Amino acid sequence: MTATLELAAETELEENVGKRATAPGVDRIVLTGFMGSGKTSVGRVLAERLGWRFLDLDAEIERRDGRTVPEIFAASGEAHFRKQETAALAGLLGQRRVVVALGGGAPEELGNRLLMEQTPRTAVVYLAAPLETLLDRCERDDARTGSAGRPLLAQAEQRFAVRRHLYERIAGHQVETSARSVEEAADAILEALGRNR
Ligand code: S3P
Repeated sequence: MTATLELAAETELEENVGKRATAPGVDRIVLTGFMGSGKTSVGRVLAERLGWRFLDLDAEIERRDGRTVPEIFAASGEAHFRKQETAALAGLLGQRRVVVALGGGAPEELGNRLLMEQTPRTAVVYLAAPLETLLDRCERDDARTGSAGRPLLAQAEQRFAVRRHLYERIAGHQVETSARSVEEAADAILEALGRNR
């Protein structure tokens, strides 16, 4: 009887703080998908819902290197950028209670795919959308910021053809984003993670 009452009290307590979302069995959520899939904007909202930290892989590369992503591509090339990306990803995956937004090309590297696969309690979620939608979003982003922030956008078609299979392969969950707002996409991720415990 006492035990039941205690349990009831605990449940009530949990309900009071129940506004915070949970991701059972998971310590880090990695968002993958093409340029324009919403990894950064959805990642921020998701992290807020969970009370976790949001980490952006491109921002981490820029922080470590001291140059912007387009500057690194222009001066040192893609191969150099990819090396930086792998080093930065290894660092971010060492942290707990984090939502990590990858860059769109990170899954092209076998080393990155293995890092994610080998890191325990890591859920990889693919934010999917048709290529036209993704390109539209990138164009709108560029118009809004007044700059072309994505050096590989000119190769979008070829890259998308290769990568879409990689995104599908590395992700345990896929969320279609074209008909969803940022908040709805974050909720869909939480629902998918809760459902497939
Ligand atoms: C890249 C995507 C970019 C950034 C870099 C390379 C790619 O990130 O990492 O420009 O290869 O698709 P976003 O997907 O966040 O735009």
